[in-house]
Amino acid sequence: MEHSIRIVPMGSEHVMDMADLEAACFSEAWTAAQLAYELDNPHAVYFCAVHDGRTVGFAGMHNVLGEGYITNVAVLEEFRRRGIAYALLQELFEYAAGHAMAFLTLEVRQSNDGAIRLYEKCGFTRQGIRRRFYQNPSEDALLMTKFFVSGEGTDCDEDTGDRELL
Ligand SMILES: CC(C)(COP(=O)(O)OP(=O)(O)OC[C@H]1O[C@@H](n2cnc3c(N)ncnc32)[C@H](O)[C@@H]1OP(=O)(O)O)[C@@H](O)C(=O)NCCC(=O)NCCS
Repeated sequence: MEHSIRIVPMGSEHVMDMADLEAACFSEAWTAAQLAYELDNPHAVYFCAVHDGRTVGFAGMHNVLGEGYITNVAVLEEFRRRGIAYALLQELFEYAAGHAMAFLTLEVRQSNDGAIRLYEKCGFTRQGIRRRFYQNPSEDALLMTKFFVSGEGTDCDEDTGDRELL
């Protein structure tokens, strides 16, 4: 690839691209206003993948008393299968380890095989089903969780700086 991709903490400059990504990826997409709100949310932790000044992927979670609830993971279609979502999730894991979080959990559509494989590759395991969790179209959610060993990684430096990916 002629230009590299960097993983950076979310800033206001990423919001419009993130909203476009949401609209492209999800039937019930977050709006730019909802995403911008996350910048002021003390529980929110978001990372963006940036290529040539454009946000081509992002992942985020809410850290609620040491429990992580992943809110969104999305990568622009033409940038998929290059390890971007995997790299974004690694940033969340580093944050979680550095903050002694107990687990990260998420819901995913049962039919979303690609995302489920991604999460399994990252160490999430299937914990249960939330019936009719999604609308447009209605579908059950698979509940997946990645547990952290108590104290794992608590010696990690807090690393929220820019990172070169590809
Ligand atoms: C799911 C999604 C985020 C994956 O992003 P990505 O950057 O393409 O994922 P990566 O390249 O990091 O994939 C890492 C691994 O996950 C698995 N994986 C990812 N996408 C996959 C797919 N479509 N089919 C099968 N396996 C897949 C593979 O094991 C892959 O490793 P490999 O390419 O070496 O085989 C992306 O497809 C997307 O944005 N989809 C629409 C939004 C969405 O469904 N988000 C999840 C909501 S819960």
